Amino acid sequence: MPGARITGWGTAVPDKVVTNTDLSLRLDTSDEWITERTGIKERHIGGTTSELAIAAGRAALARAGVTPADIDVLVLATTTPDAVVPGTSATVQDGLGIAGGAMDLNAACSGFVYGLVTAHGLIMAGARRVLLIGSETLSRITDWDDRTLAVLVGDGAGAVVLEATDGPSQLLGWHLGADGSLRHLLRCEHGGHLWMNGKEIFRHAVRAVLESSLTALERAGFGPDDVDLFVPHQANARIITAAAARLGITEDRYVMTIDRYGNTSSASIPLALAHAAETDRLHLGDIVLLSGFGGGMTWASAVLRWDA
Ligand code: ACO
Repeated sequence: MPGARITGWGTAVPDKVVTNTDLSLRLDTSDEWITERTGIKERHIGGTTSELAIAAGRAALARAGVTPADIDVLVLATTTPDAVVPGTSATVQDGLGIAGGAMDLNAACSGFVYGLVTAHGLIMAGARRVLLIGSETLSRITDWDDRTLAVLVGDGAGAVVLEATDGPSQLLGWHLGADGSLRHLLRCEHGGHLWMNGKEIFRHAVRAVLESSLTALERAGFGPDDVDLFVPHQANARIITAAAARLGITEDRYVMTIDRYGNTSSASIPLALAHAAETDRLHLGDIVLLSGFGGGMTWASAVLRWDA
């Protein structure tokens, strides 16, 4: 069976930047509290999920050197679709002119890693090229008078092109998990606003990232010491440092971009991955661990041998 490898990546964020100081002018909060409790300094706000997805997708296609007509399947991970129906992937398929099929995937903030495993499966089943995008506009489901949520969220998108390869697959191990009995911890009803129990999510998140990462690494035949770069979901800097510390992964081996983007849900891992690639932190043959968690609760980890 063919393996898959990432051959291109791209990102898009809205132009508008909202700093902690901007938020502190209208909410009872401060740059000091937000920085210390979350690691966030600023976030980009605006646009729609499809607009951001199209821009990121176009950039990824260009970097991979392929055209929309070459794509067999578009997988759009999002928890903030433009509408209930149609799927936002339909708008993105039309906007990019993709020749193949298109589907939305919602696993909250774990969506990109769920999508990555799905994309590898599609290629093993015979697809030649898959465009995977994580795109979110959490700002649209945020109550901007609720300081507990408003300081956390950001909008953005990240995309990768996966192509079939005759060589070994880049995906060495993976783990997907869910516990729907925890679904009350993070909710947004139709037409409503995001609500969460931050403390409980924090507690479960550190454990989920740790256990899921270790399982995916074990399935790949590795341990944490073998990881060259850890690319975690960016929800809170303290969750990242706590999970990395328990894995024994030192600061020089993990990516932190939450300061500039806030929590962009399923866009956070591809944004962080692209940032790592563009700042020369990813090298041919590197062992890369991706791990996310989110509403549901869901969690997901993947171990890749970087081959782009
Ligand atoms: N500014 C200033 N003070 C605040 C703010 C704010 N924005 N928000 C809360 N506070 C206050 C609280 O009212 C509380 O005050 P009190 O002690 O007088 O009662 C105090 O700060 C401490 O609040 P906690 O909730 O205990 O703060 P905590 O250290 O737990 O941090 C946070 C809160 C940042 C939400 C943290 O719990 C967290 O990051 N949790 C995980 C969130 C997450 O990962 N979510 C997953 C996905 S989210 C998504 O998908 C959008």
